[in-house]
Amino acid sequence: MSTIIQPEKTIKIFDTTLRDGEQSPGCSMTLKEKIDMARQLEKMKVDIIEAGFAIASPGDFESVQTIAKELKETSVASLARALEKDIDTAWEAVKYAKRPRIHTFIATSDIHMQYKLKMDPEAVLERAVAMVKYAKRYCEDIEFSAEDATRSNPEFLHRIFEAVIKAGATTLNVPDTVGYTTPMEYSSLISGIREKVDGIHKVDISVHCHNDLGLAVANSLAAVKAGATQVECTVNGIGERAGNAALEEIAMGLATRYDYYGIKTGIDTTQIARSSKLLTAITGVSVQPNKAIVGANAFAHESGIHQHGMLANASTYEIMTPESVGLRTNAMVLGKHSGRHAFEDRLKTLGYELSKEEINRAFDDFKMLADKKKTVDDRDIEALLQDDVMNLEE
Ligand code: KIV
Ligand code: ZN
Repeated sequence: MSTIIQPEKTIKIFDTTLRDGEQSPGCSMTLKEKIDMARQLEKMKVDIIEAGFAIASPGDFESVQTIAKELKETSVASLARALEKDIDTAWEAVKYAKRPRIHTFIATSDIHMQYKLKMDPEAVLERAVAMVKYAKRYCEDIEFSAEDATRSNPEFLHRIFEAVIKAGATTLNVPDTVGYTTPMEYSSLISGIREKVDGIHKVDISVHCHNDLGLAVANSLAAVKAGATQVECTVNGIGERAGNAALEEIAMGLATRYDYYGIKTGIDTTQIARSSKLLTAITGVSVQPNKAIVGANAFAHESGIHQHGMLANASTYEIMTPESVGLRTNAMVLGKHSGRHAFEDRLKTLGYELSKEEINRAFDDFKMLADKKKTVDDRDIEALLQDDVMNLEE
């Protein structure tokens, strides 16, 4: 009896730190900084880097072009509105890449078509098809985004997607441009596209979520479960307004819950911490301490019960290892919630071998000090033990 081996399901990670991420206030980068970041993203093995919006400024053009020339393996994309001049400029910038991609977009929601584009839906559909065909003259890999897809009429979305597939689009992006959708609603939208759009199985379905209601990662993961094959995201979740879906959360969500999603990415997760720190150093914008995966507290434990569990077996309170994201170790933070186990463990690490009574005395002093300070560090412990010795000698 022969066993059928199912091919492993993998999805593509499309990093837009250098385009949508850079659009976030305070996050603009110089050419050199963008190149450094692009190299790190390649090291982390993202599949596609959106290097910028080539027509936006001469500086953006130069950085997209330089990154296209620099990178060895990764696809390099430039954003372009559905306009010939944007597509020409995007191509001039990405054409040196080993794998160039043109990413063109037009809005499909009534509110955007009426107030921003001042075009009716038929004109939008015609423009989308014409511009995908136009871009296709330049390269094979064409992504089409229906901006504000989650507030668009789904039937119209299906029609425009079907038409751009016929025109040559190879990836269809379904952006939640204003972070409006919910996991279940987005999941149904993706399933509907998979069921109703002719030719959909030949192309990638991409999701691109903003975080206005704090749901960007949850929405992206729900869409992946519903069959999306590409996720667009940024390091540290930087991006317009409340940001984009955070790459590190998507990658670790899928890796940690492989049992649930059954889906892999090509991301080398051990490069996550380094990528996050590099971006912080470049932009000067730090992540909040409790930020999932890359925040200073993501692998830190203060409470006595947790520290006791961690010292017995780390999987009691950690669902992924610090090493898996490229950190050397977790952190046991000593504070007023900490217990004797962690305190004793720290004394051993600092090289102290104390009697039971000495430990008891030191622990009492530690608790008194911890009530006065947010955290107690190694220097505080050394000072505290020094005081104990002096008191004994007196
Ligand atoms: O949020 C959005 O809709 C975008 C598109 C241009 C893809 O960034
Ligand atoms: Zn966006």
